[in-house]
Order: sequence, then structure tokens, then C-alpha cells
Amino acid sequence: MVKRIRKSRARPRRPGPSPRLGPAEIEEMRAAGRFAAELLDAVAERVRPGVSTGELDRLVESLTRARGARSAPHGYRSAGAPPFPGHCCTSVNDVVCHGIPDDARVLRDGDIVNVDVTPVLGGFHGDTSRTFAVGDSVSPRARQLIADARRALWLGIRAVLPGARTGDIGHAIASFAESRGYGVVREFTGHGVGRQFHTAPTIYHYGRPGAGEPLLPGMTFTIEPMINLGHWRTQILGDGWTAVTADGSLSAQWEHTLLVTEEGVEVLTLGSGETPPL
Ligand code: MF3
Ligand code: CO
Ligand code: CO
Repeated sequence: MVKRIRKSRARPRRPGPSPRLGPAEIEEMRAAGRFAAELLDAVAERVRPGVSTGELDRLVESLTRARGARSAPHGYRSAGAPPFPGHCCTSVNDVVCHGIPDDARVLRDGDIVNVDVTPVLGGFHGDTSRTFAVGDSVSPRARQLIADARRALWLGIRAVLPGARTGDIGHAIASFAESRGYGVVREFTGHGVGRQFHTAPTIYHYGRPGAGEPLLPGMTFTIEPMINLGHWRTQILGDGWTAVTADGSLSAQWEHTLLVTEEGVEVLTLGSGETPPL
């Protein structure tokens, strides 16, 4: 069967001022972020050959319900696509992002899979993703891609401090990733996150130092670079959601939700035992 594809269009800039949260709202965001990280800690325990992406979705759904939270992706609407059917996104191999969980998509030894969760707890969103190697047969190149995509995220995080600008984040990410020959996806971006899933500012994963919007204390947003073994260009499959690399190359992504503080940055979605790679 021939896959129906359309070109990805760049995500429009999200207009309006970037929200800044007060102390009580920040506490709520810490709780939502912590819960999002706990979901991925549970997913990490379950990922292995023979498990379907549909099973991972049900794990996320049940833990989310048990906490009295809901999954922001479920029923999420985007122009030109049906409501998103999953509780998380599961993006395997050449899928860049927004892969739809599916009982028929059984993970195989050698796959790589990104799982992206966004629970809404107490009215606030925690948004985070990780890429996992499935089994023991993942190629050294693919393992290096996963590690380098994670390093790219953390280089972006290290660029966050009050008075820095969004372009500093993008420059830190792309200059590293491109120096290693990877393609940095341009059609999908990080975003403000809080009471709403996607707000200003738009966080491009490429940019010029000193350019873009200033980062100010109380802003909460994601950084979520998608790094390809080949070219950066993506296409959308006929389901209206699944974004794949145009050249079929592998893609890896990592995402954290950040808070700009007076001193620098706080990572709201740190996993248990997670230590920065830098
Ligand atoms: N969690 C994704 C993000 O990082 C968005 C997923 S939207 C969905 O922004 F509808 F596909 F779930
Ligand atoms: Co996000
Ligand atoms: Co996400």
C-alpha cells in the first residue's frame, strides 16, 4: 500500500505575550512536571521487544486516570487532522513525532522509540519525552543519535537564564547537532506550556545568538529538539498526524519542561535518577 503523504508546514508562531507564572502557579507546574516524569519512568520499565505501542498508551492512560489527571494529547485538535486518538505519542525509528499508539505496532529488538506524555494535573500541563533503545540490537549509530539528541536538549537548557533569548537556545542546539552531521527538524518547535498546552513563546531548535524573545523569570516552556541521522525535512502521513523524516532516516527526540528562575533555569520534568549529560 502506498503511503499518502503531505509536506509538513512550519508550525506558526504562537501570537500574544508569553505567560509568566506566580509562586502558586509555579508550585502547580512543579507537581504536573513531576508527574509527567513519573509517567515516563513507568514507561521506561515497560519498553522491551514484544510490547506494542498501544500497550504503552494504556499504561499512560491508566496511571493518568489513577492520579485524577487527564492526558492533553487525547482528543487534541490540530487543523486538517482528526482529533489525536492516543494518550501519548509513540514515535518509532523514522517517525519524528506525533506517532499514534497502535496495538499492531509491536516493538522489535533494534527499534528506537520516543514516548511523549503531557498530563494535565490541577489545571497545569507537564510535557516531556524520551527516546528509548529497544532490546540489545540497536546499532551503535542509532545509540549515538539518541545520546546526541539528549545532549542537544541539555545544551539548549544550559542556554536558559533571565535575559537570554530564544535564539540562544536554538543556536546552542543546532550548532552542536549540525557539527556532528545531523539534520535539525525545523517544522516542529518547543512552546510555552502552563495552563495551556501550547502558548508563546515559540522555541525554535535553531537560531542566532541574541535574537528572538527575551527569557524572563516565571516563564515556562519546553525545549524538544528532533534530530535526524539524515536531512531535517519531514512529511506527514495520511493519518494527518504521524511526522516522518522525508528521507527515511532515523530520528530521536528528548523534551523537558523548563522554568526560568531569577538565577537561571529549573527543569520541571527530571526523571528519577536522571543526571544531566553535560
Ligand atoms: N507533546 C507534544 C509536544 O511536545 C504534542 C503532542 S500533540 C498530540 O508538544 F496531539 F499529538 F498529542
Ligand atoms: Co511539547
Ligand atoms: Co511533548
